[in-house]
Amino acid sequence: MTNPVRTLDPTAPPAPSGVWTAPGRVNLIGEHTDYNDGFVLPIALPQAARATVRPRSDGLLRLYSEQGDGTTVELDVTALTPGGVDGWARYPAAVVWTLREAGHRVGGADVHIDSDVPTGAGLSSSAAIECVLAAAYNDLYDLGLDGPELARIAQRAENAFVGVPCGIMDQMASMCCREGGALFLDTRDLSARHVPLDLLGAGLRLLVVDTRVKHDLADGAYARLRAGCERAAALLGLPALRDLGPAGLPAALDRLPDELRPLVRHVVGENARVEQAVALLDAGDLRALGPILTAGHASLRDDYGVSCPETDLAVTAAVDAGALGARMTGGGFGGSVIALVDAAAAPTVTAAVETAFRQAGHTAPRTFAAVPAAGARRTF
Ligand code: GLA
Repeated sequence: MTNPVRTLDPTAPPAPSGVWTAPGRVNLIGEHTDYNDGFVLPIALPQAARATVRPRSDGLLRLYSEQGDGTTVELDVTALTPGGVDGWARYPAAVVWTLREAGHRVGGADVHIDSDVPTGAGLSSSAAIECVLAAAYNDLYDLGLDGPELARIAQRAENAFVGVPCGIMDQMASMCCREGGALFLDTRDLSARHVPLDLLGAGLRLLVVDTRVKHDLADGAYARLRAGCERAAALLGLPALRDLGPAGLPAALDRLPDELRPLVRHVVGENARVEQAVALLDAGDLRALGPILTAGHASLRDDYGVSCPETDLAVTAAVDAGALGARMTGGGFGGSVIALVDAAAAPTVTAAVETAFRQAGHTAPRTFAAVPAAGARRTF
């Protein structure tokens, strides 16, 4: 499969009709709960995808990315088909296809994308591109959709066009997060509450360690886990695993085959951890979040099976060096780890993780401190 490409005219970005931005995310807690109708608690990152978008009247979607190979991908919006576009261009194309499928009369555009969300790092670089396009088209074509509706469009783009059966967390985080807070989201009905998270005021830092192990959700493992959860819910006669609480867990586990028990144990425990985390943030006790993060990682490692040696090592090294807590974030199979640390301990923890990686012969990780940023918006 090859995209129709053309060498870019040596001109700068198209004369703008507008500029939009949509961020990547890290999830504080609530992993692999979103496709079980459960709870999540992400923050948006300052790293974001920016798109300059100018509508076209000839039905062409012309896509250029600063992070691409210097070519413009040119597509006919009436001929878009799922699976028919390659590489980064499938994300913006997917959004235009999904909007048209949903009956919105949208046409082509010149789209110039520039993103500083690391790719393959579990920080939702693809959701950022989907959401920035959805936000731009919503404004340019006057669609009148709200944040959750645009997040649903972006999720469907990923599910039906790109072919990844992801949940709604990443797209909701990118569309709806607010600066200075985490998004406490009920993925069943998309009701959400913004929970203040003043890390700097509490003398804390949230380190994001990109382990540089590329995670790829399209490889089938994610789909298998999701199918396992859905099978468990069906066997238990529940609409989704969200409908099982800690009190009902032991009896439910007795009714399930061995291979599904750890999945169910993780999801039930993880939903409870989100609620505990929100209660702590509401009480202003940010430090107490640490052990919840570490417990979440143990559950992802031991029950859900989505960690890897590098994420496990980053978590152990960070906690041993004094982090209040640490866990992998996102879908897993590589990607990034978050570590909650006292501000003064940030350099020590960063160095300890780097040393551990060096000693284990792993590629050097990349670490930065995250602060909760704003969701998708028009900037120009
Ligand atoms: C990926 C998916 C999300 C979510 C996480 C795991 O990021 O895109 O929908 O399922 O994995 O929590």
